[in-house]
Amino acid sequence: MIEILSKKLLEYYDENKRDLPWRMNPNPYRIWVSEIMLQQTRVSTVIPYYENFLDALPRVEDLARADEELLHKLWEGLGYYSRVRNMKRAAQQILEDHQGRLPESYEGLIQLQGIGPYTAGAIASIAFNKVVPAIDGNLLRIYSRLHCIEESIDLGRVKKEVFALVLEDISKDRPGDFNQALMDVGSSICLPKNPKCHICPIGEFCQAFKENRQRDFPLRKIKAVQKKENWTFIILEKRGKFLIKKRPPQGLLAGLWEFLPFFSHLKEEEVKILIKEKGYTFKTIKELDSSQHVFSHKIWNMKAYLVEVEDQSLVMEDMSSYDSFCWASPEEIKEIYPFSSAMGKYVKEVLSDNR
Ligand code: ADE
Repeated sequence: MIEILSKKLLEYYDENKRDLPWRMNPNPYRIWVSEIMLQQTRVSTVIPYYENFLDALPRVEDLARADEELLHKLWEGLGYYSRVRNMKRAAQQILEDHQGRLPESYEGLIQLQGIGPYTAGAIASIAFNKVVPAIDGNLLRIYSRLHCIEESIDLGRVKKEVFALVLEDISKDRPGDFNQALMDVGSSICLPKNPKCHICPIGEFCQAFKENRQRDFPLRKIKAVQKKENWTFIILEKRGKFLIKKRPPQGLLAGLWEFLPFFSHLKEEEVKILIKEKGYTFKTIKELDSSQHVFSHKIWNMKAYLVEVEDQSLVMEDMSSYDSFCWASPEEIKEIYPFSSAMGKYVKEVLSDNR
């Protein structure tokens, strides 16, 4: 029975596996990069970033020595930037403590910055053929259905139970392919809302399918509601350049650039007053479409104004004299300054010709 589940899964994988870039020319570094990019980010989003990143930084030592601004630029749009900063620290750890080679064991991998239980399991099994489960939300959903687990998959004891169940099923010859087959089943068949049980390679082992209760699983703890925040961004333009601001080195979107933020929704008149108070002579103002950015724990509802000011404005306090502010041309915004993806819509506006 146990043998058969993994046999079915591997047959399915051999016939249907997706041609993903990290499955070609694999080496431990390439697999590590893919697994970090794929944390909280969809495969289709990751693909264009992946080769680009590896072209720029083909080896662990390139990553260890990479300039932070370049790292942010390569990551721009993927979100959760602490992932790439942690990867750089881990690359330095690998150079210092492991002679430049990724450790092969789960225990060695999990010591590295940014590598948790799922990622350690994925890398150990895919790159080094170690028999270790890689348990993420998709896999928890699959196993909660296979075994009709009647408790929340958010509970530590349920995760432990699933770990033990996977360990019974996992192929001892091809653990990496087994884990990746489950990832493929999780992303294309055992879907949260409309699972495609009629084509599932392991449907015959699925208790929920037998009882027609697929939609009852997985059980979740009630999620904390995401806090909503209102923001206004002022895009100040002078002589074809835009005033931009770097976020603090710690916290949300650390170190990324944005337009001038104000923590509330401002009306046009309020923006005009604010701009005049700063000493600028105001030429035009245009309200842009509002935009929303969803983080895991909060939601930003954003308004924005494009405000052009006179060239010779006599500002009382020129903010661009601080390190964290500067005037940047559209080209510099595109090529040099990494912006948070929350700014995506407004960066596009600044880069568009028909402003
Ligand atoms: N998601 C995370 N890791 C993956 C992998 N190796 N293949 C496909 N999807 C994934």
